[in-house]
Amino acid sequence: MNIRFINFSLCVLSLLLLAPFSATATAETLAVKDPEHTTELLQRFDNIVADPEARQKANAEGQERAQFCFRCHGKNGNSVRDYVPNLASQNPAYLFTQFEKFASGTRKNYVMSKLAEILSADERVAVAVYFSDKPVIPRDNRPEPDMKGQQVYQSLCFACHGDKGHGSHTYPRIAGQPYEFLEKTLLKFKQGDESRKNSPMTAVVGNLSDEDLRAVARWVANMP
Ligand code: HEC
Ligand code: HEC
Repeated sequence: MNIRFINFSLCVLSLLLLAPFSATATAETLAVKDPEHTTELLQRFDNIVADPEARQKANAEGQERAQFCFRCHGKNGNSVRDYVPNLASQNPAYLFTQFEKFASGTRKNYVMSKLAEILSADERVAVAVYFSDKPVIPRDNRPEPDMKGQQVYQSLCFACHGDKGHGSHTYPRIAGQPYEFLEKTLLKFKQGDESRKNSPMTAVVGNLSDEDLRAVARWVANMP
């Protein structure tokens, strides 16, 4: 175990104990409010996945760093609680931008906002490499989808998230996310909630009825 990992574990431990945030990892922390940061991380990610040796190394490091994430996001990135999103197969650009948002306060979640302050750039890249090629496993508790959900998806969502819901470099993958996460998240966007502000999603779902919103969430939860 190297010093960095011990630092990381200590920070995580203090987080879990809800103790005042320890500054142990500040030397490792990058200026995450820099908007060019995401582009730079993505460049690193692309270089690593293109090189089999670097990829294997980052994957091993990512697995070590991701141990703590497994508690909530699950081993292999399929989340263990339905209010927690899967990270499996999520596109790396999205993972990086969300860390930026958690760090800057545009997106809020107690644990994630703290984590965004302590994960170094190398750790973010390694974790993204680790989760990026993990498959999404269909959940057993998916609610029944219906045609209404499909109609809403095809008229309002597919233009950005793609016909399969797999997203792209620019848009997140949403297919197969747990229903509870989808419903909660869409409601937050619709209501312009503090925890997910300044998002294009607010305009998209702003006028959607709650019934249609739940129908499309059921549909997306069932997309493979
Ligand atoms: C204590 C539980 C917990 C732990 C541990 C945790 N997360 Fe999270 N994470 C969450 C929750 C809950 C959300 C959703 C927050 C929301 O609803 O906006 C989230 C959201 C995210 C998101 C945004 C994904 C999306 O689809 O919107 C990323 C990226 C992420 N976490 C990465 C990580 C990584 C990497 C680790 C480990 C270093 C980690 N998380 C550890 C609970 C956790
Ligand atoms: C104009 C493009 C666009 C359209 C159309 C669109 N989205 Fe999005 N969606 C986005 C972007 C961009 C994000 C990332 C938002 C952020 O970072 O705040 C997002 C985020 C999301 C998220 C959160 C993902 C996560 O893991 O945190 C969900 C769920 C979602 N969209 C569902 C939908 C659904 C359902 C529809 C159709 C009703 C839809 N989107 C239509 C662009 C779009």
